[in-house]
Amino acid sequence: MSSSILVYSLFSLLISFVSFLLLRSSTVRFTRRGRRLPPGNSGLPFIGETLQLISAYKTENPEPFMDDRVSKFGSVFTTHVFGEPTVFSADPEMNRFILQNEGKLFESSYPGSISNLLGRHSLLLMRGSLHKRMHSLTMSFANSSIIKDHLLVDIDRLVRLNMDSWTGRVLLLDEAKKITFHLTVKQLMSFDPCEWTQKLMKEYVLVIEGFFSVPLRIFSPTYRRAIQARTKVAEALSLVVRERRKESERGERKNDMLGALLDEEGKHGGGFSDEEIVDFLLALLVAGYDTTSTIMTLAVKFLTETPLALVQLKEEHEEIRARRGETEGLIWEDYKSMPFTQCVVNETLRVANIIGGVFRRAITDVNMKGYSIPKGWKVFASLRAVHLNQEHFKDARSFNPWRWQINDTPGATSPANVFTPFGGGPRRCPGYELARVELSVFLHHIVTRFSWIPAEQDKLVFFPTTRTKKRYPIIIQHRALSRPCKESIEAK
Ligand code: HEM
Ligand SMILES: *[C@@H]1O[C@H](CO)[C@@H](O)[C@H](O)[C@H]1NC(C)=O
Ligand SMILES: *[C@@H]1O[C@H](CO)[C@@H](O)[C@H](O)[C@H]1NC(C)=O
Repeated sequence: MSSSILVYSLFSLLISFVSFLLLRSSTVRFTRRGRRLPPGNSGLPFIGETLQLISAYKTENPEPFMDDRVSKFGSVFTTHVFGEPTVFSADPEMNRFILQNEGKLFESSYPGSISNLLGRHSLLLMRGSLHKRMHSLTMSFANSSIIKDHLLVDIDRLVRLNMDSWTGRVLLLDEAKKITFHLTVKQLMSFDPCEWTQKLMKEYVLVIEGFFSVPLRIFSPTYRRAIQARTKVAEALSLVVRERRKESERGERKNDMLGALLDEEGKHGGGFSDEEIVDFLLALLVAGYDTTSTIMTLAVKFLTETPLALVQLKEEHEEIRARRGETEGLIWEDYKSMPFTQCVVNETLRVANIIGGVFRRAITDVNMKGYSIPKGWKVFASLRAVHLNQEHFKDARSFNPWRWQINDTPGATSPANVFTPFGGGPRRCPGYELARVELSVFLHHIVTRFSWIPAEQDKLVFFPTTRTKKRYPIIIQHRALSRPCKESIEAK
C-alpha cells in the first residue's frame, strides 16, 4: 500500500519534472492571433495533466488540483486534461459568463463514449431550439406547483415504503438509490415499485457503471456490459412507450412525464419518435438518480459529524410530526415550514458539490477578463472551487448550516452569483426544486424514525464523482415512536 503510494508519488514527481523542462517558458502564452491565453501548464504531450488531476481528487482534500493552480496562476488558468487543452475557471464572474452564453459562445460538450450511453436524443446532448423546448418541457414537469399538487405525495409515500424495510445495518447510499430510482420511474411513467421496476433497476445500474469507466477505458468489459444493458433498458422502455401510445389513442391519459411527451404530438413542432422519447426518459433517469441519492447520503454523513445540527434538525421535524401525526403524509405547508432544513440542504449542496463543474466548448474565439479562449477549446467552469473559496464563504471548507441563517455572510449577499450547485443559464438543472424536496422529505423521515451510528469509518472521495468510499454503512435503531404527547408540547 505505502510502497504503491511511493511509486505513484515518484511517478508524478517525474511527470512534473519533465513537464517543467518541457514548458519552462510557457506560463505566458499567446494565441495565433497574438492574444493572451490564460496562464498555466499543459503538462506532457497528449496526457497533459490528466494524471495529476485524477490523483489529486482521489485524496480527501476537495480541491488540491485547483488550489495549487489558482495560487500559482490566478482563478482562470490553462491546463491540458483528457486529451485537450482546457481553460479552468474558479472565478464566479467568469463561470456566470460561461453558463449564460450557452448556445452563443459556448456549447455543452460530452465525450462520445458518454453520448453512446445516453442516446443521441438525450437532453444533455441537445442543442439550439430543440434543447429549449425540451428543457422547458422538463421544467414544467418538475416545477414547484407540480411537486406541490402531485409529486410530493409520491415522494413521501415512496420514502416511507423504502424505510419500512430498514433493520440493523443499512448501506445508506444503496437505499437512497432505490428511493430515487423508484421516484423517478413513478414521475416519468407512473409505475410503482414492482418486479418490473426491480428488473429495470438491475440493468440500469450497469448502464450507470459504464459512465464511470469512461473516458479512460472505453474498451473495458464494464463499458461493454453497460452498452448491452442500455439496449435492454431501451427495449423495456420502448414497450412502455408503445403501450402508452395505444392508450392515448383510446383517449386515456396519465399525468406524468411520458404523458406530457406524448401530448406534444399535435403541437407546434410535431411529436416525438419512440426512440427520441426513450432517450429522453433514460437521460432523466440518469440525471436525477445518482445526484440526489448521493446528496441524501452526504447530508446524513455531515449531520452525523455535526451533532448540534442534527439535534436542531430533529427538533424541527419532531414538531412537524407532532402536528401531522404518524400516519398522515407530509403536505406542502410542512415542506414550507422547515427553515433549518433548508439551511442544511444548502450547506450540503455547497460542501458536497455533487456536480463539481461543467464542461463546455468555445464555439468561437472568446475574450473575457483580458484573456482569449481560442475557438474549439474546452472550458471547465468549476462550481466547487467557488463554493469552497474563503473569499465567498467564511471558513468555507467546514459544514456549517447556520451560515445560511445569517443574512450578512458573504455567500448570502449575492447567493445567485456565488452559490450555483445546479449550474445556471439555459442548462440550469430543471430538477433543482425536486432534488431539494426529495432531500427534505428524506431527512424528515430518517430523523423522526431512526437513530443511527456509522458502522465503519467512511470517507469522501472526489473522483470521478463525489461519493463516499463505502456507500456509508450505518447501524440504525428504530426510535420508540414517542410522539411527544400534546401536553408536553403545550408545556414548552
Ligand atoms: C442534488 C441533485 C442535483 C444536482 C446537484 C444537479 C446538478 C445539475 C447541474 C449542475 C446541471 C447542469 C449541467 C450543465 O450545465 O452541463 C444539471 C443538469 C440537469 N439536471 Fe440536475 N441536478 C440534480 C438533480 C436533478 C434531478 C432530480 C433531475 C430530474 C429531473 C435533474 C435533471 C437534470 C437535467 C435533465 C439536466 C440537463 C439540463 C440541460 O442540459 O438542459 N437533476 N443538474
Ligand atoms: C408549472 O408547470 C405547469 C405545466 O405543467 C404550468 O401550468 C404552471 O404554470 C407551472 N408553474 C410554475 C410555478 O411555473
Ligand atoms: C438556499 O440557496 C438558494 C439559492 O440557490 C437561496 O435562494 C435560498 O434563500 C437559500 N436558503 C437559505 C435558507 O438560505
